[in-house]
Amino acid sequence: MTDHTIPIKNPANGSIIKEIEKDTPEKIRDQIEQGHNAFKSWARMDAHHRASLLYQWSERIHEQKNEIAEVMTLESGKTINESLGEVDYARSYIDWYAEEAKRVYGRRIPANSEDKRILVSKKPVGLVAAITPWNFPAAMMTRKAAPALAAGCTFIIKPAEETPLTTIKLVQLAHDAGIPEDVIQCVNHSGKLVGDIFTESKQIRKITFTGSTPVGKTLIKNSADTMKRVSMELGGHAPLIVAKDADIDFAVNQTIASKFRNAGQTCICANRILVHENIIEEYSRKLVEQVKQLKVGNGMNEDTDVGPLINEAGFNKVAFQIDNALDNGAELLCGNKYDSDSDKNYFYIHPTVLKNVDQSMRIMQEETFGPVIPMVSFNDLDEAIDISNSTPFGLAAYFFTNDYRTATYIHDNLEFGIIGWNDGAPSAAHAPFGGMKESGIGREGGTEGIEPYLETKYLSIGNL
Ligand code: SIN
Repeated sequence: MTDHTIPIKNPANGSIIKEIEKDTPEKIRDQIEQGHNAFKSWARMDAHHRASLLYQWSERIHEQKNEIAEVMTLESGKTINESLGEVDYARSYIDWYAEEAKRVYGRRIPANSEDKRILVSKKPVGLVAAITPWNFPAAMMTRKAAPALAAGCTFIIKPAEETPLTTIKLVQLAHDAGIPEDVIQCVNHSGKLVGDIFTESKQIRKITFTGSTPVGKTLIKNSADTMKRVSMELGGHAPLIVAKDADIDFAVNQTIASKFRNAGQTCICANRILVHENIIEEYSRKLVEQVKQLKVGNGMNEDTDVGPLINEAGFNKVAFQIDNALDNGAELLCGNKYDSDSDKNYFYIHPTVLKNVDQSMRIMQEETFGPVIPMVSFNDLDEAIDISNSTPFGLAAYFFTNDYRTATYIHDNLEFGIIGWNDGAPSAAHAPFGGMKESGIGREGGTEGIEPYLETKYLSIGNL
C-alpha cells in the first residue's frame, strides 16, 4: 500500500481485494477539460442516437450481470442476491432515461403582439460531476449518469473510495457500448481532494451528490463561487408508523424488508419504528420471531440475509447507539451480538430489536446505518406524526394502516419526500426520489430526474 494507491477491502473478512491508482490532481483537471471539450458534440447528437447508446450500455451491463454483482459484493459486503437485484435496478435507470432523452420537450407561448413568437427550449447544462456513495455503487451511479447523458450532458464521476470497482466496470461498459470515452469518465482519489477540484472548476456546470448531509452542505457552499447547479441526496432518518388497524403480518414483513436491506445501510431504510400501543405486543413478538431467523455472514454465501458493515467507523456508530439506548432504559428483545475483529478489519452486527426506546436516545436522533430496530409505542396518531417529523431529515417515511382516512391524515402531515403506505420498498426508476429539509435538494428518477440536467432557454422573435 502506498500514498498513491487506494486499497479496496472486502468487508466480509477484511482482506484487500485490489489496490487502484489514485489519479493525480493534474490528471483529474485534464479529464475535466476533456469532458468539457466533449460536451459540444455530445449535446448536438440527436436524442434518438443518444438513447440507442444508452440502451446498448444497459444491454452490456445485463450480459455481465453476474460479474458485476460479484465485484459489488466483494467490495461493499452486500449479499450477492442484493447485488444481483441492484444490477437490474441500476439498468432500470438507464432504460428509463434512454426513453426520456426523446421527451425533452420545449413549448411555444402565445405572444402579446401579432408580430412576435415566443419559444422555450431545454438545453443540457454542460459537464456534470457526480460523487457517489458505497452503499449502492451501481444504482447511485446510473441514477445520475443516465439522465445526464440522456439530456446531452457529459459526465465525470468520483465513486466512493470503498467501492470504486463497480463504477470502473460500469464506465468501461459504457465505452464498450459506444459512448465516447470523454463523455463518461471516472476519477479516483480522496473525497476532499476531488470535491475541491470539482467545485472550483468553472468547466463543471453541475454537481450531483449522494452521501452525508455535512458533506452535501460543504459541496453546496463550495459550489457557490461558480454558481453550479446542485442536486443533493443526503441523509435520512425514516420513521415507520404501524397504526392500530394495520395488517400486522404484512407490516412485520415490510419492516424487515426495509430495515435489513443492505444490512440497514440505506438512506431510506426504516430507522424509527412507531407502533400503536394496542398492537405492539403482537407486532414485536412476530417481528422478533422473524428477525431471529435472519442469517448473518459473508454476502457471497447465497443464504446470507445480512452482511457485514462497511467499516469500523460505521460499526462504532451503530454499537454506540445500541449501548446508549440500553444504558438509558431500552429493553433488548434480540441481537446486540457482534462478530467483529478490528485487527482483521471486519465488522458484523447481528440484527437487533430494542423496545421502550424514547426520544432522548441517540438512536432516535441520528441515522443509524445498521441492522437495528428501535421501537416506540404511541397512543395518539398526532403523537406518532410529531415524533416522525421531529428531525432535520425528510427523506423517506412509511406507514401501515388499512383505513384510508388514517392514511390520508398521516400522508398529509408527514414532512418527507418519499412515503410508503403499506409499502416498505418504494424505490423505482420511474418515480421521483429525494428528500425535504436537510435530506437534500432535487429529485432523481421519474420525469423529474432529468430536469436538473437541463437549462431553460427562451427565444423571443420579433418583427415578423
Ligand atoms: C439510498 O440509500 O438512498 C438508495 C436507496 C434506493 O435507491 O432505494
